[in-house]
Amino acid sequence: MSRELFRGRTFDDFLFRPRLGRVGSRADARLTSTFSAGIPLELPVVSANMDSVTGADMARTMALEGGIGIVHRALSIEDQAREVERVKRSHGWVVEDPIRLPKTATLREARETIRRHGVTGLLIEETRGSGLLAGILSKRDMPWEPGHDADAVEQHMTPFARLHLGHPGMSPDDAVRILYEHRIEKLPVVDDGRRILGLITKSDILLSRERPDSTKDAKGRLRVGAAVGARGDYLDRAEALLAAGADALVVDIAHGHSEVMADALRGLGTRFPKAELVAGNVGTAEGALFLRDLGVAAVKVGIGPGRGCRTRLETAAGVPQLEAIFEVRLALGDATPIIADGGMRDDKDIVLALLCGASSVMLGSMLSGTDEAPGRVIEDPATHEKRKVYRGMTSPQAVLATLYGAGDEEEIERALDTPAEGQEVEVPYRGSVRDVLHRLRGHLKSAVSYSGETSIGAARQILLERPEAFLIPLSEASRRESYER
Ligand code: XMP
Repeated sequence: MSRELFRGRTFDDFLFRPRLGRVGSRADARLTSTFSAGIPLELPVVSANMDSVTGADMARTMALEGGIGIVHRALSIEDQAREVERVKRSHGWVVEDPIRLPKTATLREARETIRRHGVTGLLIEETRGSGLLAGILSKRDMPWEPGHDADAVEQHMTPFARLHLGHPGMSPDDAVRILYEHRIEKLPVVDDGRRILGLITKSDILLSRERPDSTKDAKGRLRVGAAVGARGDYLDRAEALLAAGADALVVDIAHGHSEVMADALRGLGTRFPKAELVAGNVGTAEGALFLRDLGVAAVKVGIGPGRGCRTRLETAAGVPQLEAIFEVRLALGDATPIIADGGMRDDKDIVLALLCGASSVMLGSMLSGTDEAPGRVIEDPATHEKRKVYRGMTSPQAVLATLYGAGDEEEIERALDTPAEGQEVEVPYRGSVRDVLHRLRGHLKSAVSYSGETSIGAARQILLERPEAFLIPLSEASRRESYER
């Protein structure tokens, strides 16, 4: 019966019936959910692994806001691993293995290292690789006026003798006291022999106090996922990404219910038995059970709903997205988290996806056009309108970027001969993604309040028990009344 309610239906086909509100204030509504078996989220939103959506900046902000970002793979293995590392290094109660240079390195080298790793300062060691602390060089220590590029960092660093130090096992409160007493921002952690063990920074401590909802690992570092394919260099890529600290690998191919996927998951599972493997995309119960039986930590659902996607237009393959989410949820129950991927254009689409079975939503176009998305802002010289590019990952431009990233000449030739299933569009420039997420969070909390429950999880449970009692299918007239403004 419920299955019939969803047949051929998607987001614009339903409203949900409001019930007696039980949250005192919107702020009290909980949005806690899961991305994958081992990764809880306070905001059930994931940024898509697309080269116009998620690099390090987006992934970092997503995790700070309580969601998670999946770094795209249209990059060389080294570059993608570096993006992951940038997120992992950006915060954490103690930075392990901080970036360092020998004291004989030049200021030019230091500037370049600071820029490349997106850090604010470097630990300086006696000789390259010795691990013996000689001093700290922060951005502030470097002269502004030109002509110093060839200077040795030793000339400008704060030397060891003048440093305040942290100790292994020190508590955050002790660290805060020392940082405050001496009005400093960084505390290197060394052993008795001056050997570098880590780095404590003021900004990280403040962050972990101020942002209890951000998505962090056991060491207080922000979490990040990274995409891999199912062929070619995927095992080497996975190895580099895991070494860089990726918390989850998303094996992402257009048709995830396929033998190629099964081979890839077996390969990854054998080689990296502890890795959190998420896979997709599928749009049917059979596809989802197939991935579950291969042991994945979450299933990504969506065949062709995405804004940058032409799959349905060109192949007639696909499942309306809300039907797919509900069908997969019926098949999987709540044991395997579902990531609803693609097709959400308005905040209400996200609400319906989460109520009808998804544990989180993956967004592409809704997060594109923001400062944190890769790509430049384009300004129309006539109208002064600002825009950014959003493109499907099977658009010709993104396909080539992916293949060049993998360095696969033969595949590049083949791709040039294959018709594209994705397209590139320009979207309005929208400022920081934090504002988008702030709005979204507010609307999700309001929806929880209208549902008569106190959390998104409880609202989902109520709906899934009796969808007919909760969902109202729309007529053309009620759709007009709802959406035409
Ligand atoms: P939205 O609608 O949020 O969708 O922009 C993001 C999702 O779209 C998928 N995607 C594609 N699907 N061809 C496709 O068939 C493409 O070129 C393409 N690019 C992205 C992907 O699942 C993404 O997360």
